[in-house]
Amino acid sequence: MIELFENSKLPIKLDEEAMKIVIGEGLSGGELSIRTIEDMQPVLSDDNVTEPKESYFMYRDIFEVEKRQVMKENFARYDITLIPNGFMGDELIKTFGHYHPLVPKTEVSYPEVYEVISGQALYLLQKVDPANPEKVLDFAVMEAKQGDKAVMPPNYGHVTINNGSTPLVMSNWVDSRFESEYGKIRELKGFAWYFKKDRVVEKNKLYQEAPEPRYIKAESVPKFGLKTGEPMYQSFFEEPSKFEFLGKPQEHMETFNKVLKI
Ligand SMILES: [Fe+2]
Repeated sequence: MIELFENSKLPIKLDEEAMKIVIGEGLSGGELSIRTIEDMQPVLSDDNVTEPKESYFMYRDIFEVEKRQVMKENFARYDITLIPNGFMGDELIKTFGHYHPLVPKTEVSYPEVYEVISGQALYLLQKVDPANPEKVLDFAVMEAKQGDKAVMPPNYGHVTINNGSTPLVMSNWVDSRFESEYGKIRELKGFAWYFKKDRVVEKNKLYQEAPEPRYIKAESVPKFGLKTGEPMYQSFFEEPSKFEFLGKPQEHMETFNKVLKI
C-alpha cells in the first residue's frame, strides 16, 4: 500500500496489488468508473487489443463535507484518476481523450489542471482547426513528474499517457458546469499521434495534416495558484480566487499561452 497523503494532502492510498485507490475517512464522493479495453478499442492504433481488461480508473467528485460549500460556490470539482503502467498492444496505456465545450458566450473552451500525485505522465495537447477536426494546428506533449501541475489550456483536446514504470495517480480541478466531448476523437481513432514502445511515435493516418509533436515541461503557474510540489487540493482552498481561470478562461489567455510556450 502506498501512502499518498504527503503528495495530495488527502487521506488516500494506492493499493498496487488490487490496482485501486483506497479513499480514507473524512472523504466523500469519489464514485468509481472504470474504462475497459472495449471502451478503449475505438481509439487504439490496433483495435484488436484485449488487455488490460480494466484500462484505467476514475474517482469522480471527491470532497470533504466541510469544504463542499466553497467548491460549490466556485463551481469546482476534484477528481482522481489511476492509470496503470504498461501497454495496450504496443501503445503506452493512455486515456480515451476528449475536448471540452465552449464557455457560454465565448470562443474559448473550458480548461483544466492536472497534478501528478504519484508516477509520471505525458499530457498530449491537440488543437484542431474548428472548421476541420482532421487538420491539427498544434500538437504539444507536456512532460510531468510527481508534484507537477499540468494546465490543459482552452481549445486543446487532451489525452494522458502513463510513460513511467509505476502506476500513475493524478488529480484534477475542473469546472463542474460542463460535460466532455468524445465524438470527434472516436471518429478519428484517437489523437493525431500514437505513443508506442521504445519511444516510437506514429502518425494516425486518419488525420489530413498534423505537425510533429513538440515537447514542453509542466511548470509552476503562480497566477493560477499552482506550484510544483505543493498539493493543489490545498492550494485551491488557500486561495479559491486564483482558480477562477477554470470558469473564466477568456480572461487569462496570456497565461495559457505562456503555459503552452507560444
Ligand atoms: Fe478534461
